[in-house]
Amino acid sequence: MNQLAKMARRSNRASSRSSREMTKYSRHVAVFRLTFCLLLLSTVAEAGLYTTSDQIVAISLDNYKSVLVNSSSAIVVEFYASWCGHCIAFSPVYKRLARDIKEWKPAVDLAAIDCADENNRKVCSNFSITGYPTLKFFHAFGRKDSTGQRIKGVLHDVQALRHEIIDLMEKQDPWPPACPPLEPTSQAEIDIFLETNNVRHLALIFENVSSYIGREVILDLLQFENIAVRRVLSTEDDLVTKLGVTEFPSCYLYYPGGNYTRLKVNIEARTFYLYALQGLPGVVRSGKSAPATRDNTSKSIEEVWRPHNRSRVYMADLESTLHYSLRVELAAHPVFTGEALTSLRNYISVLAKYFPGRPILMNLLKSLSLWLDNQTGDQVSYQAFSEILENSVQVPDAALPEGVRWVSCQGSQPHLRRYPCGMWTLFHLLTIQAKKFGGSDPKEVLNAMTGYISNFFGCRPCAEHFENMAKESLTEAKTFTDSILWLWSRHNRVNNRIAGALSEDPKFPKIQWPPPDLCADCHTVKDNGEHKWNTQQVLLFLQKYYSAEGILTDYLEDESEVLAKQKLKHASLLQTEAQKRIEREALEKANAPNIAAQKEEEEVADEDEEAGKALEPDGDRRQMIRRPSIVGMKPREVREDIVDLDSVVNRHFKAKAAQVATSSRVKRRTLQRNREERDSRLGAVLIDPNVASDERDLSDDGGLARRARWMSMLSIGFSKVDVSLCVILYFMSSTCLLAMYIFFKTRLRLRRAKVSLP
Ligand SMILES: Cc1cc2nc3c(=O)[nH]c(=O)nc-3n(C[C@H](O)[C@H](O)[C@H](O)COP(=O)(O)OP(=O)(O)OC[C@H]3O[C@@H](n4cnc5c(N)ncnc54)[C@H](O)[C@@H]3O)c2cc1C
Ligand SMILES: *[C@@H]1O[C@H](CO)[C@@H](O)[C@H](O)[C@H]1NC(C)=O
Ligand SMILES: *[C@@H]1O[C@H](CO)[C@@H](O)[C@H](O)[C@H]1NC(C)=O
Repeated sequence: MNQLAKMARRSNRASSRSSREMTKYSRHVAVFRLTFCLLLLSTVAEAGLYTTSDQIVAISLDNYKSVLVNSSSAIVVEFYASWCGHCIAFSPVYKRLARDIKEWKPAVDLAAIDCADENNRKVCSNFSITGYPTLKFFHAFGRKDSTGQRIKGVLHDVQALRHEIIDLMEKQDPWPPACPPLEPTSQAEIDIFLETNNVRHLALIFENVSSYIGREVILDLLQFENIAVRRVLSTEDDLVTKLGVTEFPSCYLYYPGGNYTRLKVNIEARTFYLYALQGLPGVVRSGKSAPATRDNTSKSIEEVWRPHNRSRVYMADLESTLHYSLRVELAAHPVFTGEALTSLRNYISVLAKYFPGRPILMNLLKSLSLWLDNQTGDQVSYQAFSEILENSVQVPDAALPEGVRWVSCQGSQPHLRRYPCGMWTLFHLLTIQAKKFGGSDPKEVLNAMTGYISNFFGCRPCAEHFENMAKESLTEAKTFTDSILWLWSRHNRVNNRIAGALSEDPKFPKIQWPPPDLCADCHTVKDNGEHKWNTQQVLLFLQKYYSAEGILTDYLEDESEVLAKQKLKHASLLQTEAQKRIEREALEKANAPNIAAQKEEEEVADEDEEAGKALEPDGDRRQMIRRPSIVGMKPREVREDIVDLDSVVNRHFKAKAAQVATSSRVKRRTLQRNREERDSRLGAVLIDPNVASDERDLSDDGGLARRARWMSMLSIGFSKVDVSLCVILYFMSSTCLLAMYIFFKTRLRLRRAKVSLP
């Protein structure tokens, strides 16, 4: 017997161990598979010298035909080997080129292929590539056997490459349909053009024959509507004298009827023309012009537009960002552990240190930061975090205003701008603040930002791109100034990459920021006429634009209002909590006799075998489910049938309880089935305990609760009756005794009196 039991136990243990090991094993397999997939993915994405963020088409054995053959745009391909030093040195130039001519994509696109990849070797040898890097130009609608034209020349200069590409573009025979004419124009052609085309602005760039600016601007604006750009050579005497052009290059806006004005720019150069022309009224990216038709229903819900100064930062945007970040975005994470917890700590810490918020908000951020620092465990739940965030301990004068009021981050449509715009604004501001007040770590803010973005930022592709940028170059930032400029330049890189994307607000086009009308001194040109940022001026501008003192406080909710709202919320929370506590206590009281009844119920159930079997397996669970049904019900008046003074009441009660038990069991069983059906129908919706208990109160399970209460009332009432009965009996018997005593006493005295009578 003993042996057997031991064996059983052992085998039991073994099997449980093996099952544990099985789950462990399968978990390992899953983890392995996951890491393998991730590895694969990352090697795919990072094998070559370029990533998806670089806007360079990755060519491989699988796609080279579809990319190169019969393409509607011209294509420049870099053949490289990832191990070759020259290729590595050239890759930043190629990336810069890709960013520089990003707007030309419909006419000419950039691609690259890693010939060091075994799979691609055949492709590279087909194109007779022998040395790396090699650049080749494939014109539009190329044939299958086309091997492309080799681009010679300097491979370290973006401008030279750009010019080379333009030269090749001009020689194409099937002209890419998306590419506007690049050749110089004349007076006669312009007159015909204006007659036949209905274009709002015609920009004429007057330049020398060797200049590329005209053609560059033509290509730069090829994706924009309501504007056409043509180049006019300085030798085109008719037009030059008609407009009185003396400076080359220069740009004129030419209108029907021979009206013209000179385009005002700080410097006569490509970038300045671009900023100015893109800013003309009606000039929008193709396909973005039509303002989305909104039906009336959504219009009525829409917020009113908040007028604001476009060259200022608004506290309302920053508070809205914090509201969304802390109450919505973070709430998606029930628990923070490991890296996420560290990121949360760093984020809150830089906010508490550098955010130039109103006193109430700063108090709150500080209490949050302090609380997080005091959490010594390796995990923090959002629930606990949220309690501090909502100031449930009622730190005086601390609150985060609720809701969003976008001002300078308003979008022309509800899905545009807003939170991501606020996020950028917040972190630019923090880098500036850190320079003013920061400690020893110049990257403190950027590390906090990277941590937040990669762990919590809802837009996952954005987070990935941002992480890539941080990995690539964040180490470059060695001082506070570096950090400010790093974030500025990376933000511009994002602006460049997503210009024209669906997320772009047509009313707020993505430009390289700040534009000359915000900061003229920020822009300058190199000797070769290429645009150059004056980073010294950019820094000064950023420090002014994002200075804490310059933040406007329009549209903010009043501090006292915010605090009052919080108090109100807190009070109502306390009230519901108190209510819950009372209900819980009532429940516990009601539950004690309920358990007693349950026992008897079970005894009876034993007799009723079938019912007993049905009951047994989930008895506990049912009791748990049943419990809340009493919650929220006020005790009803004592019912007459319980005022039964006879001691027989005990037996009567037992019989009744048994009756109740069996009848309620039947009820419960059907109810259980109903509930199970309902649960499966509603899925997870029913997890809300309030909803569940409400439903149960509505159902006939209430009858059972009534019985339970009935029993409890009975026991209380019984003891009361007992006591009073005792008192009455005691009182009655003593009066009786007293009466008897008096009676006999008087009788005795009377008799004695009679006897004593002479
Ligand atoms: C970290 C991060 C990564 C993102 N990645 C992507 C992505 O990969 N793809 C995508 O579609 N969207 C991405 N977004 C969203 C996108 O960048 C914009 O925030 C969003 O499209 C709203 O654009 P916006 O017009 O409001 O201007 P935003 O780019 O949000 O800029 C907000 C404000 O900051 C100022 N500003 C603009 N440029 C600069 C600058 N260089 N330096 C300082 N201040 C500047 C301007 O006043 C501007 O109005 C990302 C957002 C963030 C925060
Ligand atoms: C090339 O593409 C054009 C349209 O872009 C199409 O009309 C033509 O048939 C294609 N030619 C070949 C050979 O595929
Ligand atoms: C907007 O702010 C700028 C910078 O402070 C200021 O020069 C300008 O006058 C303001 N514009 C308006 C309309 O208030």
